[in-house]
Amino acid sequence: MAKQTIRDIDWNGKRALVRVDFNVPLENGRITDDTRIRAALPTIQYLLDQNASVVLMSHLGRPKKKVVDSLRLAPIAQHLSNLIDQPVKSIPVTTGADATAAVQTLQPKDVLILENTRFDPREEANDQSMAQELAELGDVYVNDAFGAAHRAHASTEGVAHLLPAVSGFLMEKELAELGSLLADPERPFIAIIGGAKISDKIGVITNLLGMVDTLLIGGGMANTFLLAQGVAIGDSLAEPDAVNQVHEILSLVGNSRAELLLPTDCVIADAMDANARKNIVNIHAVPAGWRILDIGPETVATFGSKIHGAKTVLWNGPMGYFEAAPFAEGTRGIAQALAESTARTVVGGGDSVAAIEQMNLADKVTHISTGGGASLELLEGRVLPGVAALNDKS
Ligand code: 3PG
Repeated sequence: MAKQTIRDIDWNGKRALVRVDFNVPLENGRITDDTRIRAALPTIQYLLDQNASVVLMSHLGRPKKKVVDSLRLAPIAQHLSNLIDQPVKSIPVTTGADATAAVQTLQPKDVLILENTRFDPREEANDQSMAQELAELGDVYVNDAFGAAHRAHASTEGVAHLLPAVSGFLMEKELAELGSLLADPERPFIAIIGGAKISDKIGVITNLLGMVDTLLIGGGMANTFLLAQGVAIGDSLAEPDAVNQVHEILSLVGNSRAELLLPTDCVIADAMDANARKNIVNIHAVPAGWRILDIGPETVATFGSKIHGAKTVLWNGPMGYFEAAPFAEGTRGIAQALAESTARTVVGGGDSVAAIEQMNLADKVTHISTGGGASLELLEGRVLPGVAALNDKS
């Protein structure tokens, strides 16, 4: 069911209580990637243009239910202020008398950001009293935090039941892009799934098998498929505990329309180290004591030709140890093939997004999701609680 959006509200003079996902990476207090903050700007700007005042709330990191100074939102407020070229007030509390007093001073077109929602132990417990205190800070609730929509927390779910609740533009776009991929993809539809662990993505792979024409598997998780097929993988990372689930997936493939392709060659090294000795070998020729750290050039070519022949492509997860340059070529090859493709190309999941951005190809794909866990849960076919709680369109 489609959800109401900020376009469905008359904002003039109203106070918008907006959940954003400003959970950005920090290094020594510096924001190293502000994509998520920029992604929320269309919503914030629209609300300001509509003469609303804006009260923002977000989590940052995993402070474990207590105040952690390095995870305060004041530096994020400063960064946002630079981006929207107007002051952004920040307060060191999330709810309570001081928060109420602060929001009451807001004029239309003012922006204020509350303190990290996860400093309050009631947030992750989706505590009703916290949801109620948050609801008192706004007239209408807006959820633009797609990246946190798989969490049923007080600021992402509980509060949505206490105010008129609509989606922001980022949330709307993410749901449209990922949703239409699953509902009505132009064919051939192929998915490339990588990353270290198969156990994180069993649900996604199982769900996709019912939809895609071709599933390409790379990254550390391919090793567990190879292990299940009796291929010698030397010292490669794999999950022997997941071999039974891989057999189940392989039998699903037999009963589905989808073909599943695994790497046919690989880059191996004698240690997980950028300076290790390396070699390129057939997948059936991995010597003992060596480990697979990337897909090989033959596999890149095969996967690339599948991508070039597709009309819809979904990519989630790197093809190898791309953080080290000697093992980044497989991931680079896939990113390049997506960039050259005329298909609808969607990239979801933290590491593949980091990879495509690192390779400066982000603007060459149709959509890059800001949600890691959230996009995976959506692709698994699950209902996201932060979305379900919003008002239906009709
Ligand atoms: C994310 O970074 O995926 C979201 O902000 C959710 O964060 P979490 O995994 O700590 O809930």
